[in-house]
Amino acid sequence: MTTPTLDAETLKGLFGKSLMLTTDWSTDELETLLNVAARFAARDRAGESNALIPNELGYAVFFDNSTRTKSAWAGAVTRLGMNPVIVDGSSTQVAHGETAVETGAMLGMNAHAMGIRHDLILGEGNTFMRDVEKGISDYLAATDNARKVPLVNLQCDIDHPTQTLADMSWLREHFEDASPDAIRGKKIGVSWAYSPSYAKPLSVPQGLITLLTRFGANVTLAHPKGYELMPSCVEAAERQAKESGGSFTQTNEMDQAFEGAHVVYPKSWGPYDLMLERVDANRAADKARMGDIEQRALTRNADFTDWICDERRMALTDAGDALYMHCLPADIGAEVTEGVMEKHRVNLAREANWKVYVIMALLAVAKVENLEAKLG
Ligand code: CP
Repeated sequence: MTTPTLDAETLKGLFGKSLMLTTDWSTDELETLLNVAARFAARDRAGESNALIPNELGYAVFFDNSTRTKSAWAGAVTRLGMNPVIVDGSSTQVAHGETAVETGAMLGMNAHAMGIRHDLILGEGNTFMRDVEKGISDYLAATDNARKVPLVNLQCDIDHPTQTLADMSWLREHFEDASPDAIRGKKIGVSWAYSPSYAKPLSVPQGLITLLTRFGANVTLAHPKGYELMPSCVEAAERQAKESGGSFTQTNEMDQAFEGAHVVYPKSWGPYDLMLERVDANRAADKARMGDIEQRALTRNADFTDWICDERRMALTDAGDALYMHCLPADIGAEVTEGVMEKHRVNLAREANWKVYVIMALLAVAKVENLEAKLG
């Protein structure tokens, strides 16, 4: 795959920019970001140093579990020459009620880049991130401090942009096409799948339908009735598909997402009405009600155990050989059979590996002046 050239003008516009949602960025900006990520991947895999931001602090706070994103943050920050610090959100004073704006001011006075995961409660995570960013920028402005402290959304209630941009980078690598047309005309099935483990956030499927429709793909979203996504994300996917010349189709049949698909992305998420019910229960810190809602979500999931990515469904795809994708972790034996998982295990690791380069790109475009010259 040839490494694409970087557009200096678009790069200039990204200087100092945070990423809260991919829908906040123009398609040109996303394209440039993907190109910077590809440049970092090529350089890193060739053993070149990318220590462009030495001796700075990359601070990330996680209010939910993570394996891949935490390690990608540490890997990206370290490769850039920064020092990573990763904190469990429940151990901060946010747990005692300190506000997001206050937290931003406190962290922003020391950190040079911030990552946040806050994904469990609808209506909360993205708002929290924006308030932290306000706390940081108000502090920097009031103290005449010119340094850039970009905030990177490491998964919120609406979007998981470092995941979906990593997914997009992997699709470009898989289809050996680093151009904006890499997924144009490709059928991509994003489907709900059964999970007995927990009511998973909506942010990955929402992030996928709002990103992939920007690039001319034919996206089919499949889920059982009751597992709808946030209306604002569905509306954005419909509008963007029209603008990009792709398509966006919704169905309640899992097979329909697989038929003729070049790519399938089956994963679980929680029932929409129960995810909404959690908002009040969480605000009231009502642990018993939260537990009851979770039980009801799992009982509801159990009505759809046949929503599994198995060999029969993979055989429905284009030439029976679609690319299987998952953000991971996957519930093996529930979301996907052991056989399908094993067949695609290495590809899934290659997909995940791109998150390191996406985070590097996000921090570098926001913090490094004349980046195109520095990347050679
Ligand atoms: N896909 C993903 O975000 O993985 P983690 O939850 O392990 O970070």
